Amino acid sequence: MALWDGRFSGGPAEDMIRFSESLSVDLRMWREDIAGSVAHAQMLGDVGLLTAEEVKQLVDGLHQVGEEIAHGIYVPGPEHEDIHMAVEARLTALVGEVGAKLHTARSRNDQVATDVRLWLKSRLGDLRQALLELLSGLLDRVERDGDVLFPGFTHLQRGQPIWFGHHLLAYAWMVRRDADRVQNALERMDECPLGAGAMAGTPHPIDRHRTAALLGFARPVENAMDAVASRDHAIEAVSACAIAMSHFSRMSEELVLWSTEEFAFIRMGDGYATGSSIMPQKRNPDAAELVRGKAGRVFGSLQALLTMVKGLPLAYNRDLQEDRASLFDAVETTTACARILSGVWRTLTVNGERYEQALQGHFLLATELADFLVTRGVPFRESHHIAGKIVAFCEERKTDFAGITVSDLQSFHPAFDEQVHAWLDPKAAAERRRSFGGTSQHEIQRQLALLRAVS
Ligand code: ARG
Repeated sequence: MALWDGRFSGGPAEDMIRFSESLSVDLRMWREDIAGSVAHAQMLGDVGLLTAEEVKQLVDGLHQVGEEIAHGIYVPGPEHEDIHMAVEARLTALVGEVGAKLHTARSRNDQVATDVRLWLKSRLGDLRQALLELLSGLLDRVERDGDVLFPGFTHLQRGQPIWFGHHLLAYAWMVRRDADRVQNALERMDECPLGAGAMAGTPHPIDRHRTAALLGFARPVENAMDAVASRDHAIEAVSACAIAMSHFSRMSEELVLWSTEEFAFIRMGDGYATGSSIMPQKRNPDAAELVRGKAGRVFGSLQALLTMVKGLPLAYNRDLQEDRASLFDAVETTTACARILSGVWRTLTVNGERYEQALQGHFLLATELADFLVTRGVPFRESHHIAGKIVAFCEERKTDFAGITVSDLQSFHPAFDEQVHAWLDPKAAAERRRSFGGTSQHEIQRQLALLRAVS
């Protein structure tokens, strides 16, 4: 028997029941569903729509349903379309007739919207914590290995010498913004839809502010139609997840690359590397590869949600039931990835020797040569051209900058002098970059302090 059987003479077809159920996905929100119903019952009592005795029966009954689900005594089955129906059915079985009064002044449309927001409020809190933990893992790593010098890359070609801490802090700022985005989303979604009814509100004298307060929301959603029809809070949450995953995916790609024998900049900790069932020498960076791969799933969830609401007329349409599979998966996947990456960063080892080797040759200091001339009054465009010519000269002679003399350099420009050799030291080059946000240790320490203050 369906809840709408008053209007229908036959029940739904078997395949329709299976096709249309959401219980398999939204069972996960049983705690939220019960909390919503408890608050609703209390509010109905507060405004006089239920007697104190009825409220007590309902609240006790709802807590019992919760206990039963928690302990596997009540296992909602496929005969219930969704968690709201499953809870109400069990409640009515336990408390009898009064159970049927609970649905006064609400509909499943505002129930589901409330449950999803409650679920998000708690799980986005977990995600934010996981992001802050990743941030602190990165900052610890800056403290440990931030003074290892290595080449910064552009186009995956060695570019300029930078401190490893500078590279790590770039990621730390991204993760910090990811945590902020989650926080912003949390603050915006902190409004309670319950009591909106199907879309138009209710003729009964309910107190939506009271329900909102009981559930820990900052306020009720202002408009009843908006309350049941909107999913931008879910889209915003998944969008924050997708952006975070794009950052995770970039750092994972570098972790994979750096742990190859060719780079060998890092070695993954045993706990996060895997071996091969056939090639005994293997030490594979699976954790990073999986994170990189899962980014695609989360981006897909964002696309699914945006497409779900595109062109959807107001107010509730059953399409909206599709939100949870994508939403739950995106939030849980992103949280899991943040946690795994924290572990990866905390346990890997940095191969300082390889970093040093990577600094040799390759004219990593060509920009320095140009900047040296700038300090002697030569315009940068001109000095860049001269430095390029010197690189070509060295290449022809099969040497690097260390292999040419000051008089060689002077044949390219008379402003070169003896000080150029000290100038061409990679550490000195990194340390000279004290401009705001530059790679110098001074700037690394400044950013570290700023980021520590929030994590
Ligand atoms: N199972 C539905 C969902 O999860 C509940 C809302 C149903 N509302 C309705 N008018 N059919 O979205």
